[in-house]
Amino acid sequence: MKAVISDVHSNIEAFKAVLEDLQALGVREVICLGDMIGYGPNPRESIALTMKTCRQTILGNHEMAVMGDHEDFNERAKAAVRWTKRQLSMRGEAAEVNKKLWDFLGEMKKIFVEGPFVYVHGSPRDYTREYIFPRDIYNEEKLSDIFSRFQSYCFVGHTHIPGVITEENNFLRPDDIGNVYKLSGKKAIINVGSVGQPRDGDTRACYVVLHKDAVEYRRVPYDFRRTSEKIRDTGVLPEFLAVRLEEGR
Ligand SMILES: [Fe+2]
Repeated sequence: MKAVISDVHSNIEAFKAVLEDLQALGVREVICLGDMIGYGPNPRESIALTMKTCRQTILGNHEMAVMGDHEDFNERAKAAVRWTKRQLSMRGEAAEVNKKLWDFLGEMKKIFVEGPFVYVHGSPRDYTREYIFPRDIYNEEKLSDIFSRFQSYCFVGHTHIPGVITEENNFLRPDDIGNVYKLSGKKAIINVGSVGQPRDGDTRACYVVLHKDAVEYRRVPYDFRRTSEKIRDTGVLPEFLAVRLEEGR
């Protein structure tokens, strides 16, 4: 049994709630699909906890953004990136602590393959940046090309929308399948949802547990009001980011 998490987005309350949940289930191994930072109020703590608890961490577009590549971000998002960057280089902190955080970001892989499983942040053809949306089931050209890039199962995050896309061009929401997707040997793209900024109308943190022959979707309540309050307290991160957590969108 292992857990696959993604898109913590500096939300330490959600991250801790998920870790407690998976530990209670007896899960010891965690694979992280990136975007540990960005948007939320606790980037340092989120990276530190990732370093401590995740066996493998994949690079997300928000990690890439703080390291310099944020051409495709809008102005609001860029302000949040600059704020996050400053947090990671805080003057009051020991230089070697800051260096460790930055080194960890710099050493993240873009793709991790283990047995029949491929792990990326966005997509198996453009690992970090490309989104695979539920509506892509109507875009046959895009999907068939994406499906040709991996053998069995591909885990992704990035859209913050949990669900499974099958090779028959179906999108299965966790609700539709009783939160369990059986691994039958047919190819599938499995979006694990977001721990720290769910966008499917449910405020609870989302992640998956990978069993021997099934993927189980888990939702974990956490104190999102506290996280929203901290976002407002920064005075820099936009109000919109606080509201999002309160509405799960
Ligand atoms: Fe994200």
